[in-house]
Amino acid sequence: MKLRINGFELGYEVLHGAGPALLLIHGFGLDRSIWRGVAKRHLNGYQVILPDVRGHGESATLKEPTRMAGLAEDMLRLLDVLQVERAVVGGHSMGGYITLALADQHPDRLAGVGLVTSRAAADSIEKRERRYQTIREIEARGASVVAETLSPRLSHDPSIQQQAYDIIARTQPAGLIGALQAMAERPDWIDFLPTIQVPALVVAGGKDQIVPLKEAAQMVELLPEVTYLEIPEAGHMPMLEAPDALGQGLRSFMETCFQS
Ligand code: MLT
Repeated sequence: MKLRINGFELGYEVLHGAGPALLLIHGFGLDRSIWRGVAKRHLNGYQVILPDVRGHGESATLKEPTRMAGLAEDMLRLLDVLQVERAVVGGHSMGGYITLALADQHPDRLAGVGLVTSRAAADSIEKRERRYQTIREIEARGASVVAETLSPRLSHDPSIQQQAYDIIARTQPAGLIGALQAMAERPDWIDFLPTIQVPALVVAGGKDQIVPLKEAAQMVELLPEVTYLEIPEAGHMPMLEAPDALGQGLRSFMETCFQS
């Protein structure tokens, strides 16, 4: 499905259709399809909303520079259009950055915060510089630069690497560039974590090559009401590597967030 919001067309789908809402946001270079299996198998009884982030999947890009706050506003408008007053919002990696921006800007719209192989800390200077270098490489060679370098780091499983490669290679170069700018310039949310008033779920992969376990541990220490799910066999993509463990974790987190 597509929807015109904030001056561009956003691709999304809604699974199951009724019940308390769960908005799941994919990570950098990927698209909403990564969540579909987990959502179909484990999250019936909930209204599961799967958007494509601006410039990814079926969502168009905008000419103006992309900011994490703007990506969060896209999610807010989607909730508005779907007439969802409050949702649990869960994000994978970059999707977690969007989730934290949304929680920061519109805390009243969230019933829970899910951070799946994600982090709250901003980029180091070196990391920011690497993102600008990647932007220059995309400008020269297109999306395949990211597909080649990122997909082997997402998982140790060759078929998941291939699946990720195919999605990233299809992503519009302008979408990747916008997301890299938004990630490079995002604020640090470490001091924000203790102020989050709703339940939080932190999911970490024991074999994650992108977000080390110690970053998850730091978030767990700072979040006031937190459930921690460490999946030893998962890398950066637990929704594909360990869908049952993640699906059951999300399901029981939904029960926590919406228990009356
Ligand atoms: C992602 O998986 O969304 C990105 O690798 C996150 C990042 O680069 O910080």
